[in-house]
Amino acid sequence: MSKSAADENRYLDIERIIELDFVRATEAAALNVLPWLGRGQKELADGAASDAVRGMFDLMNVCAEVVIGEGIKDNAPGLFKGEQLGRWLPGTPKFDIAIDPIDGTTNLSKGMPGSLSVIAAASPEPGIDQSLLDIPSFYMKKLAYGPAVKRYAEKVGIECLNLLSPIDENIAIIAKALRKRVQDVVVCVLDRPRHATLIEELRGIGCTLRMISDGDIGGAMAPSMPNPEVDVYVGVGGSPEAVLAAAALRCLGGDIQAQMWPRDAAEHASIEASGWTAPLDRVYTAADLAKGRNIIFCATAISDVPGLPGVRLSGEYAETHSILMRARSQTVRRIDSRHNLGAKTIRLRSSHAEHRL
Ligand code: FBP
Repeated sequence: MSKSAADENRYLDIERIIELDFVRATEAAALNVLPWLGRGQKELADGAASDAVRGMFDLMNVCAEVVIGEGIKDNAPGLFKGEQLGRWLPGTPKFDIAIDPIDGTTNLSKGMPGSLSVIAAASPEPGIDQSLLDIPSFYMKKLAYGPAVKRYAEKVGIECLNLLSPIDENIAIIAKALRKRVQDVVVCVLDRPRHATLIEELRGIGCTLRMISDGDIGGAMAPSMPNPEVDVYVGVGGSPEAVLAAAALRCLGGDIQAQMWPRDAAEHASIEASGWTAPLDRVYTAADLAKGRNIIFCATAISDVPGLPGVRLSGEYAETHSILMRARSQTVRRIDSRHNLGAKTIRLRSSHAEHRL
């Protein structure tokens, strides 16, 4: 291909044109759930976020199919696997979508920090069959870290940092990679009874703990965000969230190791019966969970998450803070938007019309 043809192709690169519309969708979700902040109504908040996402996609000239939706985990009124989004006009670009209209719904319903709206989109790529892997287990065991730790692990040998190794060994490696003392390594973990032993071990090691009550996409992204306040995320959380975090980390340059964590023998058996062919104990990396380079990731904070302030309302304006990135270029864009509430409207699927906030 000639240089000018390559430049022309790059200019026409559809991801570059469409990516801002994905942020419009997460911004719309974040704005449309504001009435539900602190109201204790998780389902209604999820419904409002999903309505706004669907409404935005109704305006988009894309053929998008949800391959990972949140409903799998908790029967929330979210966007579901197999659902088609966009206008599906002939000849318009195809995307596989992984989506969580609200990660941290409980946080939002309590008016707490730690909720964000998230979309990962993968467009077809030669040699990539299914970019965003639809993991059949409810939970995965996860270890997520930033670019400096990833580079160190690759240099020393990835097996030196291993999800299956004892936690004290992994923390010691992360400390070395970051040239920190072990007690200065900051570890993020979901506050759950299933993590009691892990938390005890981390306290025993002496490192600094940041426990979060929900929202482990933001938790897993935290070590890879610019100027991170967290060095590593560990623990068991949702599988769709692991894949969404993996898509983000492909763009941010960090990594995640994750392994299916069936809750009991019945779930183990049902995964085997589903025809899943890979070994259940396989450890996946970000590049296994979110394959290829045609990946767009965006997120808008609803309430504060590491690296992104939540929606701020001031008089006649609302401010949203988003991140937009692509795996191909690894450009990380922060998009801070000011929405004039006197002029701003959001398209909702439920009414097929524009609404003022
Ligand atoms: P939702 O907002 O979809 O409810 O998920 C919140 C969340 O905290 C995820 O971030 C995390 O992966 C998962 O729930 C953990 O599951 P559980 O609450 O069952 O421990």
